[in-house]
Amino acid sequence: MKISVIGTGYLGAVHAAGMASIGHDVLGADIDAAKIALLAGARPPFFEPGLPELLQSATASGRLAFTTSLREAATFGDLHFICVGTPQIVGSDAADMRFVNAVIDEMAPHLKPGSLIVGKSTVPVGTAAALQRRIDAVRGPNVIEVAWNPEFLREGFAVQDTLHPDRIVVGTAGTAARETLEQFYSSLIAQGIPFIATDLPTAELVKVAANSFLATKISFINAMAEVCESAGADVTTLATAIGHDTRIGSRFLRSGVGFGGGCLGKDIRAFRARGEELGAGAALGFLAEVDSVNMRRRVRVIDLARGLLDGSVAGRRIAILGAAFKPNSDDIRDSPAMWVARRLHELGARVTVHDPEAIDNAQAYAPELTYAREVETALEGSHLTIHLTEWDQYAELDPTAVMRLVDLPNLLEARNCLDVESWAAAGWHVTALGRSLKNRPPHQSGPGGLSMTTIPTQIRGEQYA
Ligand code: UDX
Repeated sequence: MKISVIGTGYLGAVHAAGMASIGHDVLGADIDAAKIALLAGARPPFFEPGLPELLQSATASGRLAFTTSLREAATFGDLHFICVGTPQIVGSDAADMRFVNAVIDEMAPHLKPGSLIVGKSTVPVGTAAALQRRIDAVRGPNVIEVAWNPEFLREGFAVQDTLHPDRIVVGTAGTAARETLEQFYSSLIAQGIPFIATDLPTAELVKVAANSFLATKISFINAMAEVCESAGADVTTLATAIGHDTRIGSRFLRSGVGFGGGCLGKDIRAFRARGEELGAGAALGFLAEVDSVNMRRRVRVIDLARGLLDGSVAGRRIAILGAAFKPNSDDIRDSPAMWVARRLHELGARVTVHDPEAIDNAQAYAPELTYAREVETALEGSHLTIHLTEWDQYAELDPTAVMRLVDLPNLLEARNCLDVESWAAAGWHVTALGRSLKNRPPHQSGPGGLSMTTIPTQIRGEQYA
């Protein structure tokens, strides 16, 4: 089929290339000319594993092209996927619908009769119906139809999630649109990927419900981490033990500094705001707690850093391992690592940030911090090392070798994925979120012995707002 994809961020660029790779003719459109110039040269404007290869093969096949003209996109083909951002409004919890509305307003007069608009952006429930009214006001009833097809891709795995999704969900008002989308995704459905066809509000809700569940799961284990810190227990063992229960499952139970990124935080806030509007605020009140558990973990890292440096970070050199909100991404939106780095800087620390891919984005966002292209440079002379993004590169560091670089071998493990025993055995003084060694046998092997801090029972209150 011939389709256009409007908005070429993480979602749209991968969807455009992915759909071309399964045989559709795709025109990607974006108002950002610099982004389009890169994509037209088969170069992604952001770091995403597998995307360069996918863009190259799709472009070479002649089935993928890009434009900055929404009018051209409106007249190209019969399906138009809306993939523009719906960020949080500054000073509010609600989602900003300006970009979605602007795309619809610009395209509506030019769309071919019988075209289908397919929303993929994460939106407040009721948006599809509102967009249908908006289009009908320009084109009259029954000329252009709006459907919803939420996207569940994760950054870092976006190509895999687009070509092999766990499920395909489509919301439509009528059967013709459903059949069109079933046909569109037929090659994926043939692989056995579940196809769930439903109404518009259910399809819109599936996305925010899924992200709310994931955020809740992470905050649940981080709430347990707080309890473990007070009780002298170990949250990583607790997570392993409860994760063996197949009803619970072990994924998304990794405790640490919490979730960030462009989706989970803003989606749970926007969902709550929409719930209030719908008179269902009480049902979603728990999401406020999910949000505050998450933010408290960031504050906890600051408090632990102060504690490890005798009460004040002022003038102390701190190496920050990681800037991206998660590994295999250069995205720093709402990154816990950047939050911690900036706060420590505000408190007077001399912060040096390393990240394998996100340094350019981080530097543009927080130019006041010092950045290092090599992890060894960040560690040089540091009094405290904080591990904040779980890149493989950090798990592969040799604790004995890097210990020679630092002034003080203090490690604060805020992602619970380093082999802390080997760091402690090498002589590092290791503190890990939600863990203590109270119930563990003493470790004899390393030169310094095991020196993992028992986390103090009191969490000093500090506002994060
Ligand atoms: C998320 C959803 O997973 C995806 O389905 C949706 O389409 C967009 O939002 P993404 O933002 O790419 O995807 O990241 P995700 O892998 O969900 O991780 C979000 C954050 O949670 C990261 O900061 C990650 O480090 C953190 N996380 C994840 C944890 O702290 N613990 C975990 O166990 C898992």
